[in-house]
Amino acid sequence: MPFELRPAEAADAPALARLWTLAFVESGTTPRTDPYDEAEVSRLLADNDGCVATARDGRVIGAVLLADHGAPSAHLTAGTRDGQLLLLAVDPDARSAGAGRALVTWCLESAALRGLLRVWLWSRPGQSAAHRIYESLGFERSPENDFEAGGEQVKVYVRPLPPDGPTIG
Ligand SMILES: CC(C)(COP(=O)(O)OP(=O)(O)OC[C@H]1O[C@@H](n2cnc3c(N)ncnc32)[C@H](O)[C@@H]1OP(=O)(O)O)[C@@H](O)C(=O)NCCC(=O)NCCS
Repeated sequence: MPFELRPAEAADAPALARLWTLAFVESGTTPRTDPYDEAEVSRLLADNDGCVATARDGRVIGAVLLADHGAPSAHLTAGTRDGQLLLLAVDPDARSAGAGRALVTWCLESAALRGLLRVWLWSRPGQSAAHRIYESLGFERSPENDFEAGGEQVKVYVRPLPPDGPTIG
């Protein structure tokens, strides 16, 4: 499925609430049982930069957020030159067309452009499609930072960035 990337906007909140509920609640791949509602998503969009993937008709089919150090969801960052990738998801009907990889690449390029030196993330053991993307885009496992969330040991990854600008891909 062809797609385009653009910055996430406040008006995307209803579409993102649906996408994240599908990917992280209804999929049964995380312990979360509460759907994402518009108020929570609006807060996430206000606190973080985001990118959405859209289908040809403009429908949002994927998204990712990039949190700066100090943002409420940036639990892994250790300093102002660290960022954290959050909530990568692609609609099940639009998967395996490269949108997930493109969204992670957007995150790394945005982080490098704003002078960050590391991008952190955590992921659940069953999220193997995401792990493939992270590893092929230069993320390294950081097992000493793994922690327990919702009864599972989650995996922490970190992506060092070149200090002189983006060479991602
Ligand atoms: C992870 C996710 C975003 C990937 O989205 P996507 O648009 O399908 O990803 P891409 O099309 O860019 O595929 C990237 C790679 O993953 C591989 N891949 C795609 N679907 C896969 C699957 N079901 N199982 C294993 N690998 C898969 C592709 O082969 C591709 O590898 P390649 O580039 O070497 O060919 C999507 O599967 C998803 O939303 N999963 C549920 C939410 C989730 O786990 N998020 C991560 C939280 S940390």
